Amino acid sequence: MRGKSVLLVIGGGIAAYKALELIRRLAERGVKTRAILTSAGAQFVTPLSVAALTGNRVFSDLFSLTDESEMGHIELSRAADLVVVAPATADLMGKLAAGLANDLASTALIATDKPILMAPAMNVRMWQSPPVRRNLETLKSDGVLFVGPGDGEMACGEFGPGRMAEPLEIIAAIEAALTNHGGPLNGLKALVTAGPTQEPLDPIRFLANRSSGKQGYAIAGALAAAGADVALVSGPVEIAPPPHVNLIKVGTARQMLRACEAQLPADIAVMSAAVADWRPESPASGKIKKDDGRAVPEIRLVENPDILATLAKSSNRPRLLIGFAAETDHVRAHASAKRARKGADWILANDVSADGEGRSVMGGDRNQIHLITVETEESWPEMSKADAARRLVQHIVRHFQETQT
Ligand SMILES: Cc1cc2nc3c(=O)[nH]c(=O)nc-3n(C[C@H](O)[C@H](O)[C@H](O)COP(=O)(O)O)c2cc1C
Repeated sequence: MRGKSVLLVIGGGIAAYKALELIRRLAERGVKTRAILTSAGAQFVTPLSVAALTGNRVFSDLFSLTDESEMGHIELSRAADLVVVAPATADLMGKLAAGLANDLASTALIATDKPILMAPAMNVRMWQSPPVRRNLETLKSDGVLFVGPGDGEMACGEFGPGRMAEPLEIIAAIEAALTNHGGPLNGLKALVTAGPTQEPLDPIRFLANRSSGKQGYAIAGALAAAGADVALVSGPVEIAPPPHVNLIKVGTARQMLRACEAQLPADIAVMSAAVADWRPESPASGKIKKDDGRAVPEIRLVENPDILATLAKSSNRPRLLIGFAAETDHVRAHASAKRARKGADWILANDVSADGEGRSVMGGDRNQIHLITVETEESWPEMSKADAARRLVQHIVRHFQETQT
């Protein structure tokens, strides 16, 4: 951890005194700390103590001109390798879970592009209350890391879970987050495409498809959780991006191709977007009018660039290039032929035909995938798209471990 830096957010709880020891322990290990002290936190520890121990000035006020000119709040939130919240009050957890940003601490937590580790501390009834449980679940699913709380007698005299983890436990969690956050794909760059493309007919109409982006977003999230540096090139979708990915939004297939090429070189590319095969040849610049008596307009289509095949032929070809094949019949045979034709290393094939009730894999939450490589074919059972993403990432990890040994 030597040479790393931490942004420590100190919230307003009795356990704030333990944050002082935490700073000392971090300094012993060569970790630099900058601190944000909430105004409630400053009721428990003084800015002077925090400044003396960190050797840095303490940041407290979102609207301080001096703070902003010395280091803006966005820069402050991103300059560190990890953001640690200790003590994490019910209030700070709730604000982050709800996306509120009405002071420096909560704004920095939302603005950061770094992992967040929270060490909650609160009265046992607060910790067990339904809103705090809900916020905890939300934060965990957003990728926030947690250490503690532990069980024991609390400053308020009650007994149970809610005591903040001890400084050395927090140090261990920081060390794990700093060294492992990366995980097995640390240092590798991944490019993922997701969602549909929209091909304009005129300024208000377009050709598109039913892709929801859920599978690609789940893959981008699983790759980031395994430590890869992920660029997610996405067509228009209704879902939020996973934490710690660089989201690049595009509309058309041609924009998607340009955005992908701009991300090369990459070690891993997973092309899960449902890219339109064709686009209207010449989109109208004004709205196509429905004039009585006029013939129904004819739309001439031209072929879009094939992103998978283009990346396969690129001089910057990703080291592991994975495509998707959405098929409605002869799923495995068609997918296997597609893999060879396009020059991909692996193809994930899925059957996108609708079931008896008109439901399709496209837009749904579950998937049944066949993984086809040069040498092997493997059929996975039906599972959630999140589980399918994790399973794919396990294969990717194994692939890189094997090719590096
Ligand atoms: C004596 C005292 C102790 C407190 N201890 C805690 C605590 O351990 N955990 C907590 O979530 N809130 C605690 N609170 C309430 C918070 O200080 C309060 O919710 C405050 O708004 C939190 O602000 P912050 O999240 O910006 O630091 C305590 C309040 C007082 C008066």
